Amino acid sequence: MDPATLRAEFPVLNRYAYLNAGTCGPVPRTANMAIGEMLALGTERGRGTAYFEAMLDRRDRLRDAYAELLHASSDDVALTTCTSEGIVRVLGALDLRPGDEVLTSDEEHPGLQGPLVAARDLRGVVVRAVPFAQIAEAVGPQTKLVACSHVSWVNGRAVSGLADLDDVPVLLDGAQGVGAVAIDVATLGCAFYAGSGQKWLCGPVGSGMLWISPDWSERLPATGPTYMNLEDPGAGLDAVPRATAARHDASAQSAETHAAALAALEVLGGAGWPAVHERAADLAARLADALAERGREVAPRDRTTLVSWQDSDPEATRGRLADAGVIIRDLPGTGLLRASVGAWNDESDLDRLLSALP
Ligand SMILES: Cc1ncc(COP(=O)(O)O)c(C=O)c1O
Repeated sequence: MDPATLRAEFPVLNRYAYLNAGTCGPVPRTANMAIGEMLALGTERGRGTAYFEAMLDRRDRLRDAYAELLHASSDDVALTTCTSEGIVRVLGALDLRPGDEVLTSDEEHPGLQGPLVAARDLRGVVVRAVPFAQIAEAVGPQTKLVACSHVSWVNGRAVSGLADLDDVPVLLDGAQGVGAVAIDVATLGCAFYAGSGQKWLCGPVGSGMLWISPDWSERLPATGPTYMNLEDPGAGLDAVPRATAARHDASAQSAETHAAALAALEVLGGAGWPAVHERAADLAARLADALAERGREVAPRDRTTLVSWQDSDPEATRGRLADAGVIIRDLPGTGLLRASVGAWNDESDLDRLLSALP
């Protein structure tokens, strides 16, 4: 990979030290163009057969590209609008009964916490939260599901020890995982992996995926199959959901969304995923070291792409950095600032951040 060539794909980097992919990744110019082309097709030629066929083509290719990234089969990948939607679909479909325990950690994102609270309040499931690092050892006989982050959004630590749980399915929130670190769903040992398209994959807001292990697919019925999820939508009341994970696809996603998500994946995949992952992790480690050398208290992290550190007034510092052209985020309630470092960044972005810090 030529880092300068990759960087040149992202116009935002001409202006800002953009270090916020943990919220939304930078948009490559080709994704912008793909949206424009799809809009032009619909606007100038109408949203008839050609437009619909283009949408189906991008949808299939996007599913294939997500599957390749996860080292999975396309048949096991659903296209969702975001990580949270995948989580909602899994928690809504699993056979969880009153009193069943779902084990989670005490540093999860609202994208997981919201659906967990709903499962507790509406279905009587017991939700137990333990420290992120202790989740594997906290699994007990009453645990029916483990639901937690693959990579913590708070500090960039990666979950461990969950691959060997034989009987308990694991739902991984991969919002800070997919695109940021290499993923092989079989090695992770999870039953479900929900990810975002708009973060480390640089796609549009409204894109994402849910991988469902073939071992669990029959135990995850489609709770809301609509037109695109049915094997034969014309079969009326005899219609059945598709046999593949596509039965969990989002009810509607625009052709523009699919086209842009695919274009962004082609940019990153074109640079070579292993190189993208290595470079991002190396740069993030360099930033963490530089912050520590300057006396900042960096939160314990793993070899991922997030770097968080203590600040006396994170919200104010985040605003001051934005004024200096450095885009990061603060994590409310934690005293932390968080920088998201991607392969598209370079040392100049890190230097700009370091020199703008108070
Ligand atoms: C760990 C984690 N989970 C879930 C989400 C929500 O992601 P999405 O908007 O794709 O549902 C985020 C977003 O920041 C996150 O960091």
